[in-house]
Amino acid sequence: MDFVGSHILSVDQFSRTDVERIFNVADTMEPYANRSRITQILDGAILSSMFFEASTRTRISFGCAFNLLGGDVRETTEVKSSSLSKGESLYDTARVLSGYSDIIVMRHPIVGSVDEFARASRVPVINGGDGSNEHPSQALLDLYTIQKEMKSRGQAIDQLRIALVGDLKYGRAVHSLCKLLSLFDNIHYQLVSPPELAIPGNVLATLQARGHTIEEFEALEEGINHVDIVYVTRTQEERFPDQKEADRYRGLFRLNQSIYTKNCEPNTVIMHPLPRDSRSKAQELDDDLLENPNLAVFRQTDN
Ligand code: NCD
Repeated sequence: MDFVGSHILSVDQFSRTDVERIFNVADTMEPYANRSRITQILDGAILSSMFFEASTRTRISFGCAFNLLGGDVRETTEVKSSSLSKGESLYDTARVLSGYSDIIVMRHPIVGSVDEFARASRVPVINGGDGSNEHPSQALLDLYTIQKEMKSRGQAIDQLRIALVGDLKYGRAVHSLCKLLSLFDNIHYQLVSPPELAIPGNVLATLQARGHTIEEFEALEEGINHVDIVYVTRTQEERFPDQKEADRYRGLFRLNQSIYTKNCEPNTVIMHPLPRDSRSKAQELDDDLLENPNLAVFRQTDN
């Protein structure tokens, strides 16, 4: 794809070559991220960061990245502190903000809202998560992490075996990651979820159309055997029609050191997009994994 001036709304926009190109750029950015080099390349540029839904990592990391390159960041968090709460349309908000900014990153609870916003924007828009649909930047950092973890043991992304665990229906990070991974060769997916929270049919169809192998499981212990990566997710409680229904799935899958030792390979890498739900009844990723060197969750956030 031609990156200059383009919106980034879905991983469907990327080819394998595009992904590899982004990862090469990411490698060259590492000295700036760890402060061994400094630059003001974005001096005078403004990123508008519009997060109309809860966010810690995505919002702060976009802002910090822009600051580290010398640019300025203007933030709106929550609908109630923007004119959307006064009935302003996404169209008008986009027209206005794109007059003030050079680029906009946006998160919104409604599927397709970021596309709608982008159509009205006069500057590039990056999707920081639109409802249960997509989360392209999370997928890029996850796949970049996978590439690094595999490289350190002499493997490539091709032939990867990955288990994806939890709320695969509403988890946008899973949707984007699965599709991005499917650009590589011979991926084996082990999808672990209750049937009601299975991955959406359109995502599954993409993986199947590209000739990958897919197995579905309902039991955590069986679904995490023989994989390079186990990617655990949080139940997206805020997307359920009501809290009572969400409560049914709380704590259904809990990965801890003993289950890991019994069912995973000795070097299976543990990933999670974070936040993990650390409330006592949830805990999909137990704190006793913190000492496990294969726990890559904070390497993911650094990436
Ligand atoms: C994810 C998200 O918001 O989709 N978080 C993130 O951006 N790292 C995952 C989640 O909220 O469970």
